[in-house]
Amino acid sequence: MHSGTAVTPQLRVLFTRDQIARRVTEMADDITRDFAGQSIIFVGVLKGASIFLGDLARQVKLDATFDFISVASYGAGTKTSGEVRMNKDVDSSMADKNVIIVEDILDTGLTMGFLRKLFLAHQPRSLKVAVLLDKACRRIEPVKADYVGFVIPDEFVVGYGMDYAERYRNLPDICVLPPQLQSA
Ligand code: IMP
Repeated sequence: MHSGTAVTPQLRVLFTRDQIARRVTEMADDITRDFAGQSIIFVGVLKGASIFLGDLARQVKLDATFDFISVASYGAGTKTSGEVRMNKDVDSSMADKNVIIVEDILDTGLTMGFLRKLFLAHQPRSLKVAVLLDKACRRIEPVKADYVGFVIPDEFVVGYGMDYAERYRNLPDICVLPPQLQSA
């Protein structure tokens, strides 16, 4: 029973909370193995990655710290305009750290392209990208994530931290938002 989606019956569940939990555990195991014996810093991209970061980080068996960054791409509704600006920078130095950027969705890649350049300028020891969802078919900038939860088709999704006009972030499952509920 997916009580979280009952509030909006038109939403179609794409990944259940159990599927997400299983995949997030696998991703955490990969990170634990890749960074064995080292410290890492997770940098979450607000707000969409907050729930993913919380679940991922709690399954990683390493010495880890958190930081957060907030960026916005101009444009409303479900379309990105291509221009990215920073709303909030990280609080701590990334120099000589093992940085893992944690993002909800890799879509056109413009946001991640911007973030990668920004973080490389901090001269981290290593820089990796973890994304829960990858809309690989939508890519404009050729960025790749090191850890990918699920590759999905070109559909607008909400839940598990992801929003449409700030709504639906608290749904426990990842759902497809049908076009009739999108009114950009
Ligand atoms: P990109 O710069 O086009 O790769 O966009 C990345 C950002 O757009 C993601 O971090 C999300 O915030 C947002 N985004 C892209 N697709 C979706 C979606 O299907 N649902 C919710 N947000 C999305």
